[in-house]
Amino acid sequence: MLDVKVVGHRGAALLAPENTLAAIKAAADAGAQWVEIDVYLVADGGLVIFHDDTLERCTNGAGATAQSTVPYIKGLDAGAWFSDEFKGETVPTLVEALTYIQSLDLGLNLEIKFEQDNVDAIVPGVLAELDAHWKDNDKLIISSFNKFALEMCSQLAPIRHLAQLYDAIPASWQEDLEYIKAYSVHCDYSQLTEPQAKAIKAAGYKLLCYTANTVEQVSDHWHWGMDAVITDDPKVFLA
Ligand code: G3P
Ligand code: MG
Repeated sequence: MLDVKVVGHRGAALLAPENTLAAIKAAADAGAQWVEIDVYLVADGGLVIFHDDTLERCTNGAGATAQSTVPYIKGLDAGAWFSDEFKGETVPTLVEALTYIQSLDLGLNLEIKFEQDNVDAIVPGVLAELDAHWKDNDKLIISSFNKFALEMCSQLAPIRHLAQLYDAIPASWQEDLEYIKAYSVHCDYSQLTEPQAKAIKAAGYKLLCYTANTVEQVSDHWHWGMDAVITDDPKVFLA
């Protein structure tokens, strides 16, 4: 399963426009073997790779991401904001990203971005796209901050490796993880404590920390048992 120490965040968000195919390629070119990307549900039921609730920061479009449609989003430029070199880059659909990631032989941490409780709006669709388009289950981790989304994944697709995302680790972590039969915990490196890391490892889970972009930020974490770092710049950790 997860046998790498470096996962590219939003592809490789410091090297190319985040969550685009160019960012995924940049991660691979930097030597990363896994990438993390965010999947977002839009108004026509489509699934796109996007982080923000609004379109302004990472495209030349405007408005709420959830209110937009795939045809509208696909018409936007998602690269020019980053630099001229990436002008013309588009927001990938989930299927485009799955296909491209596998063509590069990368592993995938797919984060489900969904802040509401009605997770049946997004989870069955994501699982269906994965069933149809993702081949190697050992190279896939599904993560989310939304525990209801993970519970639904666990019920509908118990074969999938699930990761609970946390900012800080809450008191309920053990209960949360047992309930979804989690594979891993992904948490904010800056809020993790040594006792928490050691307890998570002792309970048998993989531990990944986001989003560290310097070696110093997580130098202690490796000693605490951190399995992998999720970083905007894989080059920093692969050098
Ligand atoms: O999956 C780790 C990290 O991506 C979670 O935070 O906001 O960057 O999606 P965010
Ligand atoms: Mg993410």
